[in-house]
Amino acid sequence: MTPRSDALLFFGITGDLAYKKIFPALHAMAKRGMLDLPVVGVASSAMTQEAVIARALASINEFGGGVDEPAFAKLAASLKYVQGNYREPGTYTALREAIGGAMHPLHYLAIPPSLFATVVEGLAAAGLTDRARVVLEKPFGRDLESARALNATLHQRFDERSIFRIDHYLGKEAVQNLLYFRFANSFLEPVWNRHYVENVQITMAEKFGVEGRGKFYEETGIIRDVIQNHLLQVIGFLAMEPPSGNYAEAIRDEQAKVLRSIPPIASEKLVVGQFDGYRQETGVAPFSRVPTFSALELRVESWRWAGVPFYVRAGKKLAKDATEVLVKLKAPPQVVFHDALPAMGNHVRFRLGPDVAIALGASAKRPGEGMVGQATELALMRSKSSDEMDAYERLLGDAMDGDATLFARQDAVEAAWGIVDPLIRMEREPFPYTPGTWGPDAANILTRTVGGWADPA
Ligand code: BG6
Repeated sequence: MTPRSDALLFFGITGDLAYKKIFPALHAMAKRGMLDLPVVGVASSAMTQEAVIARALASINEFGGGVDEPAFAKLAASLKYVQGNYREPGTYTALREAIGGAMHPLHYLAIPPSLFATVVEGLAAAGLTDRARVVLEKPFGRDLESARALNATLHQRFDERSIFRIDHYLGKEAVQNLLYFRFANSFLEPVWNRHYVENVQITMAEKFGVEGRGKFYEETGIIRDVIQNHLLQVIGFLAMEPPSGNYAEAIRDEQAKVLRSIPPIASEKLVVGQFDGYRQETGVAPFSRVPTFSALELRVESWRWAGVPFYVRAGKKLAKDATEVLVKLKAPPQVVFHDALPAMGNHVRFRLGPDVAIALGASAKRPGEGMVGQATELALMRSKSSDEMDAYERLLGDAMDGDATLFARQDAVEAAWGIVDPLIRMEREPFPYTPGTWGPDAANILTRTVGGWADPA
Protein backbone atom coordinates (compact mmCIF):
# COMPACT_ATOMS: atom_id res chain seq x y z
CA MET A 1 0.00 0.00 0.00
CA THR A 2 1.37 3.40 -0.91
CA PRO A 3 0.55 6.16 1.59
CA ARG A 4 -2.25 8.57 0.74
CA SER A 5 -1.10 12.07 -0.13
CA ASP A 6 -1.36 14.37 2.86
CA ALA A 7 -1.33 17.76 1.08
CA LEU A 8 -2.41 18.98 -2.34
CA LEU A 9 -0.38 21.76 -3.94
CA PHE A 10 -2.19 23.12 -6.95
CA PHE A 11 -0.08 25.25 -9.28
CA GLY A 12 -2.24 27.55 -11.38
CA ILE A 13 -5.11 27.94 -8.89
CA THR A 14 -6.28 31.19 -10.50
CA GLY A 15 -6.57 29.55 -13.94
CA ASP A 16 -9.34 28.11 -16.03
CA LEU A 17 -8.93 24.47 -15.07
CA ALA A 18 -9.17 25.21 -11.35
CA TYR A 19 -12.28 27.26 -11.98
CA LYS A 20 -14.09 24.79 -14.22
CA LYS A 21 -12.99 21.46 -12.81
CA ILE A 22 -10.83 21.47 -9.70
CA PHE A 23 -12.88 23.57 -7.25
CA PRO A 24 -16.03 21.59 -8.13
CA ALA A 25 -14.11 18.32 -7.74
CA LEU A 26 -12.72 19.33 -4.33
CA HIS A 27 -16.17 20.46 -3.23
CA ALA A 28 -17.64 17.11 -4.30
CA MET A 29 -14.90 15.32 -2.38
CA ALA A 30 -15.71 17.37 0.70
CA LYS A 31 -19.37 16.47 0.26
CA ARG A 32 -18.48 12.79 0.30
CA GLY A 33 -16.31 13.34 3.37
CA MET A 34 -13.16 12.60 1.36
CA LEU A 35 -11.37 15.94 1.58
CA ASP A 36 -8.98 15.19 4.37
CA LEU A 37 -5.90 17.17 3.43
CA PRO A 38 -4.76 20.78 3.19
CA VAL A 39 -5.09 22.32 -0.27
CA VAL A 40 -2.50 24.92 -1.12
CA GLY A 41 -3.28 26.95 -4.21
CA VAL A 42 -0.31 28.56 -5.92
CA ALA A 43 -0.23 31.24 -8.60
CA SER A 44 1.67 34.37 -9.51
CA SER A 45 -1.43 36.61 -9.45
CA ALA A 46 -1.75 39.16 -6.70
CA MET A 47 -4.94 37.84 -5.13
CA THR A 48 -5.95 37.62 -1.51
CA GLN A 49 -6.90 34.40 0.22
CA GLU A 50 -10.48 35.75 0.43
CA ALA A 51 -10.57 36.44 -3.31
CA VAL A 52 -9.47 32.85 -4.05
CA ILE A 53 -12.20 31.49 -1.77
CA ALA A 54 -14.74 33.77 -3.48
CA ARG A 55 -13.57 32.40 -6.82
CA ALA A 56 -14.02 28.85 -5.55
CA LEU A 57 -17.57 29.74 -4.52
CA ALA A 58 -18.38 31.21 -7.92
CA SER A 59 -16.86 28.18 -9.64
CA ILE A 60 -18.91 25.71 -7.61
CA ASN A 61 -22.08 27.67 -8.29
CA GLU A 62 -21.36 27.77 -11.99
CA PHE A 63 -19.84 24.35 -12.62
CA GLY A 64 -20.34 22.26 -9.49
CA GLY A 65 -24.11 22.10 -9.38
CA GLY A 66 -24.47 24.55 -6.49
CA VAL A 67 -22.96 24.94 -3.06
CA ASP A 68 -23.43 22.54 -0.18
CA GLU A 69 -22.76 24.71 2.88
CA PRO A 70 -20.92 22.21 5.12
CA ALA A 71 -18.85 20.92 2.19
CA PHE A 72 -17.94 24.43 1.12
CA ALA A 73 -17.02 25.39 4.68
CA LYS A 74 -14.71 22.37 4.80
CA LEU A 75 -13.10 23.30 1.49
CA ALA A 76 -12.68 26.95 2.47
CA ALA A 77 -11.07 25.92 5.76
CA SER A 78 -8.65 23.57 3.95
CA LEU A 79 -7.64 26.12 1.32
CA LYS A 80 -4.59 28.34 1.54
CA TYR A 81 -3.34 30.67 -1.15
CA VAL A 82 0.36 31.21 -1.75
CA GLN A 83 1.23 33.90 -4.22
CA GLY A 84 4.67 33.65 -5.71
CA ASN A 85 6.93 33.78 -8.68
CA TYR A 86 7.76 30.24 -9.84
CA ARG A 87 11.36 31.27 -10.42
CA GLU A 88 12.00 32.41 -6.86
CA PRO A 89 13.19 30.06 -4.12
CA GLY A 90 11.12 32.07 -1.61
CA THR A 91 7.93 30.71 -3.21
CA TYR A 92 8.93 27.15 -2.38
CA THR A 93 9.93 28.05 1.16
CA ALA A 94 6.44 29.52 1.61
CA LEU A 95 4.94 26.30 0.24
CA ARG A 96 7.00 24.22 2.62
CA GLU A 97 5.54 26.22 5.48
CA ALA A 98 2.01 26.13 4.09
CA ILE A 99 1.87 22.32 4.05
CA GLY A 100 2.99 22.08 7.67
CA GLY A 101 4.17 18.61 8.55
CA ALA A 102 2.87 16.89 5.40
CA MET A 103 5.23 14.12 4.26
CA HIS A 104 3.64 13.02 0.99
CA PRO A 105 2.54 16.05 -0.99
CA LEU A 106 0.72 15.79 -4.30
CA HIS A 107 1.78 18.51 -6.73
CA TYR A 108 -0.70 19.33 -9.46
CA LEU A 109 0.87 21.30 -12.30
CA ALA A 110 -1.84 23.15 -14.20
CA ILE A 111 0.66 25.60 -15.64
CA PRO A 112 2.21 26.12 -19.09
CA PRO A 113 4.56 23.23 -19.91
CA SER A 114 7.38 25.74 -20.41
CA LEU A 115 7.34 26.22 -16.61
CA PHE A 116 7.41 22.53 -15.64
CA ALA A 117 11.19 22.25 -15.35
CA THR A 118 11.44 25.46 -13.29
CA VAL A 119 8.74 24.34 -10.86
CA VAL A 120 10.11 20.80 -10.52
CA GLU A 121 13.58 22.17 -9.74
CA GLY A 122 12.14 24.72 -7.29
CA LEU A 123 10.24 21.96 -5.50
CA ALA A 124 13.30 19.71 -5.41
CA ALA A 125 15.53 22.42 -3.98
CA ALA A 126 13.01 22.92 -1.16
CA GLY A 127 12.90 19.18 -0.46
CA LEU A 128 9.34 18.95 -1.72
CA THR A 129 9.84 16.18 -4.28
CA ASP A 130 10.88 13.41 -1.89
CA ARG A 131 8.04 10.95 -1.26
CA ALA A 132 5.83 13.24 -3.39
CA ARG A 133 3.62 12.67 -6.41
CA VAL A 134 3.08 14.91 -9.37
CA VAL A 135 0.00 15.31 -11.56
CA LEU A 136 0.29 16.86 -15.00
CA GLU A 137 -2.36 18.17 -17.29
CA LYS A 138 -2.33 17.38 -20.97
CA PRO A 139 -0.76 18.25 -23.34
CA PHE A 140 2.30 16.21 -22.40
CA GLY A 141 4.55 17.89 -24.89
CA ARG A 142 3.56 19.00 -28.38
CA ASP A 143 5.23 16.20 -30.28
CA LEU A 144 7.23 13.05 -29.62
CA GLU A 145 10.48 14.88 -29.08
CA SER A 146 9.13 17.40 -26.56
CA ALA A 147 7.17 14.66 -24.76
CA ARG A 148 10.41 12.72 -24.32
CA ALA A 149 12.19 15.83 -23.08
CA LEU A 150 9.38 16.50 -20.61
CA ASN A 151 9.51 12.95 -19.32
CA ALA A 152 13.28 13.22 -18.91
CA THR A 153 12.84 16.42 -16.87
CA LEU A 154 10.26 14.80 -14.61
CA HIS A 155 12.28 11.63 -14.18
CA GLN A 156 15.16 13.58 -12.73
CA ARG A 157 13.05 14.11 -9.61
CA PHE A 158 10.15 11.65 -9.75
CA ASP A 159 10.05 7.98 -10.62
CA GLU A 160 7.42 6.84 -13.10
CA ARG A 161 5.20 5.48 -10.29
CA SER A 162 4.93 8.98 -8.85
CA ILE A 163 3.95 10.68 -12.11
CA PHE A 164 0.25 10.97 -12.91
CA ARG A 165 -0.55 12.21 -16.43
CA ILE A 166 -4.20 13.19 -16.55
CA ASP A 167 -6.32 12.31 -19.52
CA HIS A 168 -9.74 13.12 -18.15
CA TYR A 169 -11.35 10.74 -20.66
CA LEU A 170 -9.96 7.85 -18.64
CA GLY A 171 -11.81 9.20 -15.61
CA LYS A 172 -15.15 9.08 -17.40
CA GLU A 173 -17.62 6.49 -16.25
CA ALA A 174 -18.54 5.60 -19.82
CA VAL A 175 -14.94 5.10 -20.89
CA GLN A 176 -14.27 2.82 -17.94
CA ASN A 177 -17.36 0.92 -18.91
CA LEU A 178 -15.72 0.02 -22.22
CA LEU A 179 -13.25 -1.95 -20.19
CA TYR A 180 -15.72 -3.32 -17.69
CA PHE A 181 -18.32 -4.32 -20.23
CA ARG A 182 -15.77 -6.05 -22.40
CA PHE A 183 -14.15 -8.11 -19.68
CA ALA A 184 -17.05 -8.73 -17.32
CA ASN A 185 -19.15 -10.53 -19.95
CA SER A 186 -18.39 -13.52 -22.10
CA PHE A 187 -20.80 -13.01 -25.00
CA LEU A 188 -18.73 -10.27 -26.58
CA GLU A 189 -15.36 -11.96 -26.66
CA PRO A 190 -16.10 -14.49 -29.47
CA VAL A 191 -17.07 -11.71 -31.88
CA TRP A 192 -14.61 -9.06 -30.72
CA ASN A 193 -12.08 -9.58 -33.47
CA ARG A 194 -11.33 -9.36 -37.16
CA HIS A 195 -13.48 -12.40 -37.96
CA TYR A 196 -16.70 -10.66 -36.94
CA VAL A 197 -16.02 -6.95 -36.81
CA GLU A 198 -16.28 -5.13 -40.12
CA ASN A 199 -15.15 -1.73 -38.91
CA VAL A 200 -15.05 0.52 -35.88
CA GLN A 201 -16.14 4.14 -35.95
CA ILE A 202 -15.40 6.71 -33.31
CA THR A 203 -16.95 10.14 -33.47
CA MET A 204 -16.29 12.97 -31.05
CA ALA A 205 -18.57 15.78 -32.13
CA GLU A 206 -18.90 19.10 -30.34
CA LYS A 207 -21.40 21.78 -31.27
CA PHE A 208 -19.37 24.56 -29.76
CA GLY A 209 -16.32 26.14 -31.34
CA VAL A 210 -13.11 27.24 -29.67
CA GLU A 211 -14.94 29.50 -27.17
CA GLY A 212 -12.35 32.19 -26.63
CA ARG A 213 -9.55 29.63 -26.76
CA GLY A 214 -8.38 30.78 -30.20
CA LYS A 215 -4.81 31.28 -29.12
CA PHE A 216 -4.69 27.83 -27.49
CA TYR A 217 -6.23 26.26 -30.56
CA GLU A 218 -3.73 27.88 -32.87
CA GLU A 219 -0.99 26.07 -30.96
CA THR A 220 -2.93 22.85 -30.64
CA GLY A 221 -5.44 21.99 -33.35
CA ILE A 222 -7.88 19.10 -33.10
CA ILE A 223 -5.32 16.30 -33.55
CA ARG A 224 -3.21 17.35 -30.58
CA ASP A 225 -6.23 18.44 -28.57
CA VAL A 226 -8.35 15.30 -28.56
CA ILE A 227 -7.03 12.61 -30.91
CA GLN A 228 -3.50 12.18 -29.55
CA ASN A 229 -4.94 11.61 -26.09
CA HIS A 230 -8.67 11.05 -25.54
CA LEU A 231 -9.54 9.12 -28.69
CA LEU A 232 -6.40 7.00 -28.81
CA GLN A 233 -7.00 6.04 -25.17
CA VAL A 234 -10.53 5.03 -26.10
CA ILE A 235 -9.13 2.85 -28.90
CA GLY A 236 -6.76 1.33 -26.37
CA PHE A 237 -9.68 0.22 -24.18
CA LEU A 238 -11.70 -1.02 -27.15
CA ALA A 239 -8.95 -3.01 -28.75
CA MET A 240 -6.80 -4.28 -25.86
CA GLU A 241 -6.24 -7.91 -24.98
CA PRO A 242 -7.59 -9.10 -21.63
CA PRO A 243 -5.27 -7.68 -18.96
CA SER A 244 -3.80 -10.15 -16.48
CA GLY A 245 -5.63 -8.43 -13.64
CA ASN A 246 -7.33 -5.28 -12.50
CA TYR A 247 -4.25 -3.41 -11.44
CA ALA A 248 -2.56 -0.42 -12.96
CA GLU A 249 0.34 -2.00 -14.80
CA ALA A 250 -1.71 -4.91 -16.15
CA ILE A 251 -4.15 -2.52 -17.78
CA ARG A 252 -1.55 0.00 -18.86
CA ASP A 253 0.62 -2.71 -20.44
CA GLU A 254 -2.26 -3.74 -22.68
CA GLN A 255 -3.16 -0.14 -23.42
CA ALA A 256 0.39 0.61 -24.55
CA LYS A 257 0.52 -2.57 -26.66
CA VAL A 258 -2.49 -1.42 -28.69
CA LEU A 259 -0.91 1.96 -29.39
CA ARG A 260 2.33 0.31 -30.41
CA SER A 261 0.41 -1.88 -32.89
CA ILE A 262 -0.89 1.08 -34.87
CA PRO A 263 1.27 1.50 -37.98
CA PRO A 264 1.89 4.89 -39.61
CA ILE A 265 -1.25 6.36 -41.17
CA ALA A 266 -1.08 6.88 -44.93
CA SER A 267 -1.49 10.49 -46.00
CA GLU A 268 -4.61 9.73 -48.03
CA LYS A 269 -6.24 8.35 -44.88
CA LEU A 270 -6.30 11.75 -43.21
CA VAL A 271 -8.77 14.56 -43.92
CA VAL A 272 -8.59 17.84 -42.05
CA GLY A 273 -11.12 20.64 -41.92
CA GLN A 274 -11.64 24.07 -40.45
CA PHE A 275 -15.03 25.59 -39.66
CA ASP A 276 -16.03 28.77 -41.46
CA GLY A 277 -15.47 31.65 -39.08
CA TYR A 278 -12.52 30.12 -37.23
CA ARG A 279 -10.09 32.61 -38.78
CA GLN A 280 -12.14 35.49 -37.39
CA GLU A 281 -11.84 34.22 -33.79
CA THR A 282 -9.71 36.27 -31.41
CA GLY A 283 -6.14 35.01 -31.33
CA VAL A 284 -6.42 33.16 -34.66
CA ALA A 285 -4.18 34.02 -37.61
CA PRO A 286 -6.05 35.38 -40.67
CA PHE A 287 -4.71 32.57 -42.87
CA SER A 288 -4.51 29.89 -40.20
CA ARG A 289 -4.29 26.28 -41.41
CA VAL A 290 -4.97 24.82 -37.98
CA PRO A 291 -7.58 22.06 -38.22
CA THR A 292 -10.72 22.16 -36.08
CA PHE A 293 -11.87 18.87 -37.63
CA SER A 294 -10.06 15.73 -38.49
CA ALA A 295 -11.10 12.35 -39.84
CA LEU A 296 -8.77 9.44 -40.34
CA GLU A 297 -8.53 5.73 -40.81
CA LEU A 298 -6.09 3.72 -38.77
CA ARG A 299 -5.36 0.06 -38.28
CA VAL A 300 -4.44 -1.93 -35.22
CA GLU A 301 -2.11 -4.54 -36.65
CA SER A 302 -2.53 -7.14 -33.95
CA TRP A 303 -3.56 -10.80 -34.14
CA ARG A 304 -7.05 -9.73 -33.12
CA TRP A 305 -7.59 -6.69 -35.33
CA ALA A 306 -5.46 -7.03 -38.46
CA GLY A 307 -7.39 -5.75 -41.47
CA VAL A 308 -10.19 -4.02 -39.53
CA PRO A 309 -10.45 -0.31 -40.30
CA PHE A 310 -10.84 2.05 -37.34
CA TYR A 311 -12.37 5.32 -38.50
CA VAL A 312 -11.92 8.25 -36.18
CA ARG A 313 -13.31 11.76 -36.51
CA ALA A 314 -13.46 14.70 -34.19
CA GLY A 315 -14.50 18.26 -34.70
CA LYS A 316 -15.63 21.55 -33.29
CA LYS A 317 -18.83 23.26 -34.47
CA LEU A 318 -20.37 20.04 -35.70
CA ALA A 319 -24.03 19.10 -35.86
CA LYS A 320 -24.30 17.68 -32.31
CA ASP A 321 -22.64 17.16 -29.00
CA ALA A 322 -21.98 13.45 -29.05
CA THR A 323 -19.09 11.11 -28.51
CA GLU A 324 -19.78 7.63 -29.70
CA VAL A 325 -18.14 4.35 -30.66
CA LEU A 326 -19.85 2.10 -33.16
CA VAL A 327 -18.50 -1.40 -33.64
CA LYS A 328 -20.09 -2.66 -36.81
CA LEU A 329 -20.26 -6.43 -37.20
CA LYS A 330 -19.97 -8.17 -40.54
CA ALA A 331 -23.22 -8.95 -42.30
CA PRO A 332 -24.32 -12.58 -42.21
CA PRO A 333 -24.37 -14.48 -45.53
CA GLN A 334 -27.41 -13.16 -47.36
CA VAL A 335 -28.74 -16.46 -48.58
CA VAL A 336 -31.94 -16.55 -46.59
CA PHE A 337 -33.33 -13.01 -46.60
CA HIS A 338 -31.78 -11.53 -49.74
CA ASP A 339 -31.34 -7.77 -49.53
CA ALA A 340 -33.98 -7.56 -46.83
CA LEU A 341 -31.39 -6.58 -44.24
CA PRO A 342 -31.49 -2.95 -43.18
CA ALA A 343 -28.25 -1.04 -43.50
CA MET A 344 -28.13 -0.33 -39.79
CA GLY A 345 -28.27 -2.85 -37.00
CA ASN A 346 -25.76 -5.58 -36.33
CA HIS A 347 -23.55 -3.44 -34.14
CA VAL A 348 -22.48 -2.63 -30.63
CA ARG A 349 -22.74 1.03 -29.77
CA PHE A 350 -21.11 2.82 -26.87
CA ARG A 351 -22.31 6.33 -26.24
CA LEU A 352 -19.63 8.05 -24.20
CA GLY A 353 -21.14 11.51 -23.84
CA PRO A 354 -22.94 13.70 -23.06
CA ASP A 355 -25.33 10.86 -22.13
CA VAL A 356 -24.16 7.29 -21.63
CA ALA A 357 -25.42 4.15 -23.30
CA ILE A 358 -24.40 0.69 -24.37
CA ALA A 359 -26.67 -0.74 -27.04
CA LEU A 360 -26.88 -3.72 -29.35
CA GLY A 361 -28.13 -3.00 -32.83
CA ALA A 362 -29.93 -5.81 -34.61
CA SER A 363 -32.19 -6.53 -37.54
CA ALA A 364 -35.64 -7.88 -36.83
CA LYS A 365 -38.60 -8.64 -39.03
CA ARG A 366 -40.82 -5.69 -39.75
CA PRO A 367 -44.41 -6.60 -38.76
CA GLY A 368 -46.45 -7.41 -41.82
CA GLU A 369 -46.64 -9.78 -44.70
CA GLY A 370 -43.20 -9.61 -46.27
CA MET A 371 -39.97 -11.01 -44.85
CA VAL A 372 -38.48 -7.58 -44.60
CA GLY A 373 -36.17 -6.41 -41.89
CA GLN A 374 -36.00 -3.29 -39.77
CA ALA A 375 -33.22 -2.04 -37.58
CA THR A 376 -33.81 -2.16 -33.87
CA GLU A 377 -31.67 -1.41 -30.86
CA LEU A 378 -31.60 -2.97 -27.45
CA ALA A 379 -30.29 -0.60 -24.82
CA LEU A 380 -28.27 -2.62 -22.33
CA MET A 381 -27.72 0.42 -20.22
CA ARG A 382 -28.54 4.06 -20.47
CA SER A 383 -28.06 7.00 -18.20
CA LYS A 384 -28.73 10.65 -18.75
CA SER A 385 -25.96 12.38 -16.93
CA SER A 386 -22.63 11.36 -18.32
CA ASP A 387 -20.87 11.05 -15.01
CA GLU A 388 -22.04 9.96 -11.60
CA MET A 389 -18.76 11.09 -10.23
CA ASP A 390 -16.99 13.72 -12.24
CA ALA A 391 -13.84 12.53 -14.00
CA TYR A 392 -11.69 15.05 -12.14
CA GLU A 393 -13.04 14.05 -8.76
CA ARG A 394 -12.25 10.42 -9.45
CA LEU A 395 -8.81 11.12 -10.89
CA LEU A 396 -7.82 13.49 -8.09
CA GLY A 397 -8.82 10.88 -5.53
CA ASP A 398 -6.92 8.15 -7.42
CA ALA A 399 -3.78 10.29 -7.62
CA MET A 400 -4.00 10.97 -3.87
CA ASP A 401 -4.20 7.22 -3.33
CA GLY A 402 -1.30 6.58 -5.69
CA ASP A 403 -3.49 4.51 -8.03
CA ALA A 404 -2.21 5.08 -11.56
CA THR A 405 -4.62 2.78 -13.43
CA LEU A 406 -6.49 5.64 -15.08
CA PHE A 407 -3.46 7.76 -15.92
CA ALA A 408 -1.41 7.67 -19.08
CA ARG A 409 1.95 5.97 -18.79
CA GLN A 410 5.06 7.37 -20.43
CA ASP A 411 5.37 4.64 -23.07
CA ALA A 412 1.70 5.00 -24.07
CA VAL A 413 2.01 8.77 -24.34
CA GLU A 414 5.09 8.43 -26.50
CA ALA A 415 3.46 5.75 -28.67
CA ALA A 416 0.47 8.08 -29.17
CA TRP A 417 2.74 10.91 -30.25
CA GLY A 418 4.46 8.48 -32.61
CA ILE A 419 1.08 7.94 -34.31
CA VAL A 420 0.02 11.58 -34.63
CA ASP A 421 3.36 13.30 -35.16
CA PRO A 422 3.51 12.49 -38.89
CA LEU A 423 -0.12 13.64 -39.27
CA ILE A 424 0.59 17.00 -37.68
CA ARG A 425 3.64 17.45 -39.85
CA MET A 426 1.60 16.96 -43.02
CA GLU A 427 0.38 20.57 -42.54
CA ARG A 428 -2.41 20.38 -45.08
CA GLU A 429 -4.69 23.18 -46.15
CA PRO A 430 -7.87 22.23 -44.23
CA PHE A 431 -11.16 21.84 -46.10
CA PRO A 432 -13.62 24.52 -44.98
CA TYR A 433 -16.93 23.35 -43.48
CA THR A 434 -20.14 25.00 -42.42
CA PRO A 435 -20.80 25.12 -38.69
CA GLY A 436 -23.60 22.77 -37.69
CA THR A 437 -22.69 20.08 -40.24
CA TRP A 438 -20.70 16.85 -39.89
CA GLY A 439 -17.56 18.46 -41.26
CA PRO A 440 -16.22 18.69 -44.80
CA ASP A 441 -17.62 16.33 -47.45
CA ALA A 442 -14.08 15.21 -48.18
CA ALA A 443 -14.22 13.11 -45.00
CA ASN A 444 -16.84 10.87 -46.62
CA ILE A 445 -14.23 9.44 -48.95
CA LEU A 446 -12.69 7.56 -46.04
CA THR A 447 -15.81 5.54 -45.24
CA ARG A 448 -17.41 5.24 -48.66
CA THR A 449 -16.61 1.52 -48.97
CA VAL A 450 -18.33 0.72 -45.68
CA GLY A 451 -21.55 2.65 -46.24
CA GLY A 452 -20.44 6.03 -44.88
CA TRP A 453 -20.11 7.49 -41.42
CA ALA A 454 -22.66 6.48 -38.85
CA ASP A 455 -23.67 9.85 -37.43
CA PRO A 456 -24.58 9.61 -33.74
CA ALA A 457 -28.34 9.80 -33.31
C1 BG6 B 1 -10.49 18.74 -23.66
C2 BG6 B 1 -10.23 19.52 -24.92
O1 BG6 B 1 -9.36 17.97 -23.30
O2 BG6 B 1 -11.60 17.89 -23.83
C3 BG6 B 1 -11.45 20.28 -25.34
O3 BG6 B 1 -9.15 20.41 -24.72
C4 BG6 B 1 -12.66 19.36 -25.40
O4 BG6 B 1 -11.24 20.91 -26.59
C5 BG6 B 1 -12.80 18.58 -24.12
O5 BG6 B 1 -13.80 20.15 -25.62
C6 BG6 B 1 -13.92 17.56 -24.19
O6 BG6 B 1 -14.12 16.99 -22.94
P1 BG6 B 1 -15.55 16.50 -22.48
O7 BG6 B 1 -15.32 15.89 -21.14
O8 BG6 B 1 -16.40 17.71 -22.44
O9 BG6 B 1 -16.00 15.52 -23.51
